[in-house]
Amino acid sequence: MILAIESSCDDSSVAIMEIKSKKLLFHQKISQEKEHSLYGGVVPELASRLHAEALPKLIDKAKSFFPSIKAIAVTNAPGLSVTLQEGVMAAKGLSIGLNKPLIAVNHLIGHIYSLFIEKEEIKPMMVLLVSGGHTKLLNFNGIDKVCEIGSTLDDSFGESFDKVAKMLGLGYPGGPVIEKLAKSGEFSVELPLPLRNSSDIKFSYSGIKNAVRLAIESGQYKKEDIAASFQQKAIEHLLFMSKRAIKKYKPKYFAIVGGASANLVLRSEFEKLSKEFGFSLLYPKMEFTSDNAAMIARAGIELYNRGYFTNYKELKVMPRVEFEKCKESRL
Ligand code: KG4
Ligand code: ZN
Repeated sequence: MILAIESSCDDSSVAIMEIKSKKLLFHQKISQEKEHSLYGGVVPELASRLHAEALPKLIDKAKSFFPSIKAIAVTNAPGLSVTLQEGVMAAKGLSIGLNKPLIAVNHLIGHIYSLFIEKEEIKPMMVLLVSGGHTKLLNFNGIDKVCEIGSTLDDSFGESFDKVAKMLGLGYPGGPVIEKLAKSGEFSVELPLPLRNSSDIKFSYSGIKNAVRLAIESGQYKKEDIAASFQQKAIEHLLFMSKRAIKKYKPKYFAIVGGASANLVLRSEFEKLSKEFGFSLLYPKMEFTSDNAAMIARAGIELYNRGYFTNYKELKVMPRVEFEKCKESRL
């Protein structure tokens, strides 16, 4: 079995997964949304302190599995350095205590493997990663063959929902509240579609966010209309850029992962795209869309099977990591 730890942002999570069957045997999470909602976003120092309290409790609950553990997988990048550090320190302690090797897992790769919990992987596949920290189009051809088609120049998709929710006084995280409010709204606020005149495959959310700020300041619109118009434009931008990438790489499989992949309007718009272009659409089960250790365990198994271990003296936290850029024009 693999024991996995996730603490890259505001969720402390521990999972145990059987290596051969990929069966999830234990999975628990303590979220900090309530604590951060007071501030309209994640406060790193507070998050780090809460991880330091939560992780030992979660690890203690998984104690009965200790005799069967073969390796400890932990998210070491990317994320908030002070929160990643809490998970990495806990993993190092366990590695020394149980005398088992450490496996460093990239959180974004973890999100891709949220698709394959208790399943075999599917490849090659194009991936749209939409979370609080990232908005990326990737080509995936196995755990060590991931390249980047395009990324955001400024805010991420999820972050823009958080910022708009903050401007509207709706609390944190913004995604679910905006999605709910948007249901009763009309598309009456005109907002710009970013980067439509450039030929690149890139994202940008700062323009939409500023246009929303001006609409709020004008006092002319209802909150639900702002939420509906914002959500529609934010998703239209994802569709616009994804279409470009799909035309270029012609994927058979297209996946949406990350916390914002829980958005049902986003899912239904991409369902339409999948019919138009004839690809199979994949997304994680709802419970695995937001940050969790089950996806880290699943990615950890792939790394374990390839013998990718990291010595505990060398395992470092990396707040930022880059993927190589995709070159070929087909998957
Ligand atoms: O993947 P995740 O749990 O954490 C990071 O790795 O960042 O993603 C959290 C992000 C937050 O910005 C949150 O507002 C957004 O995902 N999110 C959503 C929805 N649910 C969560 N965004 C849009 N619509 C949703 N339903
Ligand atoms: Zn995440």
